[in-house]
Amino acid sequence: MKYKSFGKTGIKVSELIFGTWYLPSRETGGKREVNRQTSIKLIKKAYDLGINFFDTADVYRGIYDRDTFTTNFENVGLAEKIVGEALKGYDRESFVISTKVMGRTGPLPNDLGANRKHVWSAIAKSLERLKLKYVDFYMVHGPDEDSGIEQTAKTMNILEDEGLILHYGISNHSAHNIIKFLNLRYFEPLEPPAFIQDKYNLIERELENTNIKVAEDNSLASMIYSPLAQGVLAGRYIKENSKGSRKEYERWFEKNQLQAENQASLEKFSEIAKQKDVTMSQLALYWLINRGKYIFPILGATREEQLEENVGSVNISLSTQDVDDLGKLFEGKKK
Ligand SMILES: NC(=O)c1ccc[n+]([C@@H]2O[C@H](COP(=O)([O-])OP(=O)(O)OC[C@H]3O[C@@H](n4cnc5c(N)ncnc54)[C@H](OP(=O)(O)O)[C@@H]3O)[C@@H](O)[C@H]2O)c1
Repeated sequence: MKYKSFGKTGIKVSELIFGTWYLPSRETGGKREVNRQTSIKLIKKAYDLGINFFDTADVYRGIYDRDTFTTNFENVGLAEKIVGEALKGYDRESFVISTKVMGRTGPLPNDLGANRKHVWSAIAKSLERLKLKYVDFYMVHGPDEDSGIEQTAKTMNILEDEGLILHYGISNHSAHNIIKFLNLRYFEPLEPPAFIQDKYNLIERELENTNIKVAEDNSLASMIYSPLAQGVLAGRYIKENSKGSRKEYERWFEKNQLQAENQASLEKFSEIAKQKDVTMSQLALYWLINRGKYIFPILGATREEQLEENVGSVNISLSTQDVDDLGKLFEGKKK
């Protein structure tokens, strides 16, 4: 594994982060549920492979049943609990955790938001589930039009001062919002966010010239989610039987990720991987890691083999020309 500074925080983190949105699951009695034991084994495996950075969120259940997504809060926080369980007893200096606040975690009016009341209660619950005294990187999971960004930034600064979090960041915000957060420092002595978390991969390039660019220009670290377009770029749906894959249980996945227009480019991409003697996932991750100094893909593996394969991406070496050519394969998607 290779390590580098997480933006200007100076904290050294692995080039790859392990994410816990979808954890290994199994179907019992017609219902899909997280396989806790396999999930814990996978997190420990990631740690053993040198990954020292784990991403989670208060809303993560480890598995999603979109039908009951907004009404069933039974498994809210389950991913945080599993991360806490997996890393319990490990030297706190040896790993870094990011978690998120803002999404709905319960049925009450204030069970969501980026306002001081909810954030204050949410951080306490996250720390309890994670069995931690502090979170390294705390994130606002999405924009909240009802809470002013000054209040959110100030709340995050208070959590920093209290030692409950080390740094804060923002996820799923517009480039305009990122700049607004950064500009706060000119008006009040507020510490701005240290990082963003957004979706970016060879196929989904919509944020390349906006959020990703703004982050790079301002030395913010970029945590990249869905770096493999939820498995599409790993060839999950062309090279092998897709049984047990996300496509089977994620209702939105097929519509959003498996567009026919990408098939020809994917076939070409698969050929290039073969020529370079690497796998598709390794090539897609290598491309991302080499997009900028502070780009950090978040891996979403559900099997140990996937994790091992993906970690291999840090040891590839390709020319700058090769990397540029890969980008051009799917460039039609760039805005
Ligand atoms: N801030 C946000 O709003 C937000 C949103 C989404 C995600 N995230 C974060 O980003 C993390 C990663 O997102 P993601 O899960 O969408 O990432 P991803 O890497 O694009 O997709 C992961 C999925 O790809 C498949 N896969 C991975 N490696 C493979 C390999 N070597 N061969 C074949 N298939 C492979 C697996 O699918 P199967 O399980 O189907 O086998 C795996 O679950 C999440 O866990 C979460 O921490 C944040």
